[in-house]
Amino acid sequence: MEMAARTSTPFFWFGYLCVVLFVSADQKNIPAKSGQDVTLTCRAPNNNKPIIIAEWSRADLDTEYVLLYRGEQFVPDNQHPSFKNRVDLQDRQMKDGDVSLILKNVTTADSGMYKCRAFLSQTRSWESINNIYLSVDPPGE
Ligand SMILES: *[C@@H]1O[C@H](CO)[C@@H](O)[C@H](O)[C@H]1NC(C)=O
Repeated sequence: MEMAARTSTPFFWFGYLCVVLFVSADQKNIPAKSGQDVTLTCRAPNNNKPIIIAEWSRADLDTEYVLLYRGEQFVPDNQHPSFKNRVDLQDRQMKDGDVSLILKNVTTADSGMYKCRAFLSQTRSWESINNIYLSVDPPGE
């Protein structure tokens, strides 16, 4: 009874909404369904530092990366085979520090922690930008 009364107050729902908005704006956890194309957002914080190299990796892959973009082209050498021909940058110019990743036709095997980092010309160093957890549901659920 008391719980029911509490959850029906506008204040409860306002608080709940704030939490939901905060979490979704943060974009740390991306749910997806098998077969979808997903975009993992990543933007270098300070856009006056030109990006030389952008790298996406996944926490559980040792040395192979998801995507490496250097000198205006993709570097296929050490890309994990499961990502061949399935990944792209949202903006290959990386304008305003945008290095968001497009991952096409996801499967449950794509679930995991994706890490985005960039090599910045100004500081001449790698900068970790963000980590995003992608969780892919099997089809038909
Ligand atoms: C998506 O991947 C599945 C296998 O996981 C494949 O059967 C299907 O043809 C792919 N679809 C597209 C549009 O590439």
